[in-house]
Amino acid sequence: MKVLGIESTAHTLGIGIVDEDEVLANQKDMFEPEEGGIHPRKAAEHHYQHALELLNNAEQEADIEIKEVDGIAYSQGPGIPQCLDIGAVIARSLSIKHDIPMIGVNHCLAHISIGTRTTEAENPTTLYVSGGNTQILDFRKGRYRIVGETQDVALGNALDKLARTLGYPHPGGPEIEKLAEKTDDIIELSYPIKGMDLSYSGLVTEVQRKVGDFEDELLANSFQEHAYAVAVEALERAMAQEGSDEALLTGGVAMNSRLREMVEKMCEQRGAKAYVPPPEFCMDNGVMIAHQGMLELKAGRKTSMENSGKMPNWRPDEIEVIWQ
Ligand code: ATP
Ligand code: FE2
Repeated sequence: MKVLGIESTAHTLGIGIVDEDEVLANQKDMFEPEEGGIHPRKAAEHHYQHALELLNNAEQEADIEIKEVDGIAYSQGPGIPQCLDIGAVIARSLSIKHDIPMIGVNHCLAHISIGTRTTEAENPTTLYVSGGNTQILDFRKGRYRIVGETQDVALGNALDKLARTLGYPHPGGPEIEKLAEKTDDIIELSYPIKGMDLSYSGLVTEVQRKVGDFEDELLANSFQEHAYAVAVEALERAMAQEGSDEALLTGGVAMNSRLREMVEKMCEQRGAKAYVPPPEFCMDNGVMIAHQGMLELKAGRKTSMENSGKMPNWRPDEIEVIWQ
């Protein structure tokens, strides 16, 4: 079975094609704002302007024509509404043109599924950290339960905001990482964990207020140490609660080497294993959507035209997992 996947939840437009054994195509193009964060309409414009080119490139890379695939999967949510619309429109057009079923998939679940496909993790507790989401998830009784999450902004978004204050372009996570690597010192900040939940908004403001009083690298390192420590603490608690011996770290912020190190160390100390997908599958990509679509199509799930609209606030625990 071959499935095409369309990712368009935020700044990345991704087109992937997979079959059971391999990735046949992985095309992407990222919207890079000239200033500020992601402007919804401009990101959506970027996506429709690049859609045809990426589809053509994906056909060439996979050496197949789109009409030969068995399913058209797309990110139905959660995400930026204007961006989700573009993915849904591309999916509907291809589905009608070639008479191929559509599968609207949940973006968060796709991050987890590509994690278990590309690593040896079988039933991990997941720390999913990206620009738009920060969640800790466990698979229990047929659903991915969100056992902890941010109460305000996502970790990636917090890093992007701090970087912007320091004068760096989007995405800010890699810039904060580079700055932080220049020092081992930290200053004490608040430690924003409440039970299993996190909150990053106050921590960003706290550091923003110190800009100018301390070196940028000291602020970057202090922010990383505090922000990652609370996430890893919540992950550890979730693992302890579930008796889980596998952790999966995924989403764009999983590219961060300090966060990886902290997760690995925590797992080592508990006799558990830490898994991180290859970088190209941590960030948003079309392959994970194609793979998720393939799992669901095989289990008999298809999305009708009338139910194919965007779901900007779709939570992963709303979905009954019928594919595993
Ligand atoms: P989602 O739709 O799942 O919320 P997203 O649109 O935010 O995803 P991703 O590619 O998953 O897209 O993640 C992007 C985020 O990852 C940005 O906030 C970026 O700053 C952050 N990021 C990327 N690389 C690093 C890094 N090395 N360290 C920290 N953060 C990083
Ligand atoms: Fe994502």
